[in-house]
Amino acid sequence: MPDVFDLAGKVIGITGASSGFGHHFAGVLAAAGATVLLGARREEKLSARVTEIIGQGGRAHAHALDVTDKSSIRQFVDYAFDSLGGLDVLINNAGVEAGAKTYAMIEEDDWDYVMDTNLKGAWMVSKYYTEKVQENKQAAGNIIMISSITDTRTIKGQFPYAVSKGGLSRMTEVMALEAARYNIRVNALAPGYVLTDVSRILLESEAAPEFVKGIPMRRFGEFEDLDGPILLLASDASRYMTGSVLTVDGGHICSSL
Ligand SMILES: NC(=O)c1ccc[n+]([C@@H]2O[C@H](COP(=O)([O-])OP(=O)(O)OC[C@H]3O[C@@H](n4cnc5c(N)ncnc54)[C@H](OP(=O)(O)O)[C@@H]3O)[C@@H](O)[C@H]2O)c1
Repeated sequence: MPDVFDLAGKVIGITGASSGFGHHFAGVLAAAGATVLLGARREEKLSARVTEIIGQGGRAHAHALDVTDKSSIRQFVDYAFDSLGGLDVLINNAGVEAGAKTYAMIEEDDWDYVMDTNLKGAWMVSKYYTEKVQENKQAAGNIIMISSITDTRTIKGQFPYAVSKGGLSRMTEVMALEAARYNIRVNALAPGYVLTDVSRILLESEAAPEFVKGIPMRRFGEFEDLDGPILLLASDASRYMTGSVLTVDGGHICSSL
């Protein structure tokens, strides 16, 4: 039986790969045979991860990327098409939060910072990627958004992060509808809470032990919990999936109100 999760021969670009999920995904996808292109602003962290993956026998490259800067996006995507032979999968993973603030507390700068990175950034990278797929007559494309369960269920103090993730999941559906004509699939992964710099403020707070009781599986997620789902979305195993938002949260959003 062919291994439908095999990524040999595929080039996968990951935004926000200098830490957290993106850093982890790079290793998982390279181990499954992909050539991975890591992008983020902290270049020294990208280089260290690339060296690590190559040391483990994988194929990895790094390129500086700021998803809020159009010319930086172009350079990142162009690098894949010009130097790596194309970009089979784009993972829009870069994301930030504004601290534990309500809508009444945030300032315009907080709004712009979160929305420009999480929402506008994902759109701008996807737009340019779609242009390059067409220009290069690449037979198919695959976009994966890293959304969040805050796209549908949230708690106080996650403004405007949860708003951006709600938009990102809806963007996934609209883009899937519009991108099918280019043979580009668009899906999202919506993880529950995993300890990283984005979630630290909540997961290391005094409220964390009580918060975890709302998760049916009674634990926060771990990076490895996302390995199967990211391999599914990145590979041909999901070839008839587009417009899906895949929740991976230990049952958190099923919990009763
Ligand atoms: N942790 C959770 O519980 C959780 C749950 C659901 C979804 N998520 C989502 O998962 C994604 C990854 O977050 P994480 O939890 O792994 O946190 P993280 O460790 O803070 O990772 C965020 C990544 O985004 C990058 N980034 C931020 N602004 C950027 C920009 N302008 N251009 C390019 N890269 C940028 C950062 O790299 P540089 O600073 O080097 O640029 C970093 O690599 C985010 O979209 C987040 O919303 C997280």
